Amino acid sequence: MTAATKVPFVDLGRQYASLRDEVLQTIDAVLKSGQYILGPELDAFEREAAEFCGVKHAIGVANGSDSLWLSMKCLGIGPGDEVITAPNSFIASAWATAAVGATPTFSDIDDTLNLDPAKLEQAITPRTKAIMPVHLTGRIANMEAIMEIAQRRKLHVIEDAAQAIGATRHGRKAGTFGVVGSFSLHPLKNLAAFGDGGLVSTNDDGIAQQLRLLRNHGLKTRDESVIWGYNSRLDSVQAAVLRIKLRHLAQWNKTNRNLAERYHQALAKHVKVPVSGAGEEQIYHRYVIQTDRRDALHAYLAARGIDSKINYPTPIHLQEVASQLGYRQGSFPVAEKLAGMILSLPLYPEFTLAEQDMVIAGITDFFSGRP
Ligand SMILES: Cc1ncc(COP(=O)(O)O)c(C=O)c1O
Repeated sequence: MTAATKVPFVDLGRQYASLRDEVLQTIDAVLKSGQYILGPELDAFEREAAEFCGVKHAIGVANGSDSLWLSMKCLGIGPGDEVITAPNSFIASAWATAAVGATPTFSDIDDTLNLDPAKLEQAITPRTKAIMPVHLTGRIANMEAIMEIAQRRKLHVIEDAAQAIGATRHGRKAGTFGVVGSFSLHPLKNLAAFGDGGLVSTNDDGIAQQLRLLRNHGLKTRDESVIWGYNSRLDSVQAAVLRIKLRHLAQWNKTNRNLAERYHQALAKHVKVPVSGAGEEQIYHRYVIQTDRRDALHAYLAARGIDSKINYPTPIHLQEVASQLGYRQGSFPVAEKLAGMILSLPLYPEFTLAEQDMVIAGITDFFSGRP
């Protein structure tokens, strides 16, 4: 955001302003309690988050990268194994596989920006242990088709639902299809901590128990450690604040959908808009349009003081860090083509209609050839 920015991409201060008194009182109470790590606020947040997500267990961890990584650990994925994910995600999706010593592999997407189930089986090898669909932008991947393949090929499914908390598909919430679901509670996510945070969802009692050990040095009691674990806990202050925000999340997601609908109506004649398919309820973590004039539009909006972003300009398989994996330009044609066409427009619950109208006017003027 620059001094000339008229429409910022996001303004986190607005949400804080709307909750400030309650947040400050809650933080004050936690600070006075002296219970800063684990404890009652985290227990309550985990219960409430599990209920919201429609699962038996939700386990708070330090961030959404750790929630993927610890889930992999729990499933025993390690050296010699492969995990298939989408090439057009944030780096953390593939990182988690590398972090357990396994090999990240990829399969191409379709124009929903999610894994294309029709291509998935070609990516399965004898070493494949799991599939990690990423519910990019807050839109759930085609989980019926992905689960059918995974069950037939006896593979785990780890949902990277970092961007999709509260999204549904045919009535089922993100994070309830696979053996585990992984969420990020990063400040830019739809349910956002005031810092880092993550969450794992599962219906499997054994996995939940194992995760609780793994995130806390394998400690069964204060003094007894049963496995080599890690320090990856969600702080009590964050948990307490997240409890407040969780009560608003369904409404915030609904507001996002209403704003998305306004964009759809105004923009569909100029660009491809992310309209939901039958049975899909997106949460629009990002509102991503597709146009082959993306770079010019991006620059035009910037010149008008309208902030837009590209999530993500370089697919993971073409990043330097992935150069050892043996992919090249052309490996995933759809992901590569869309990387040059996608543009994320500002959209968040506190975004005003007046601001949205400025974005719409900017895009309309661009396509009408107005300077
Ligand atoms: C798709 C995806 N996966 C994983 C992560 C990692 O989450 P975190 O930043 O909380 O570690 C993110 C967040 O940026 C994400 O968008």
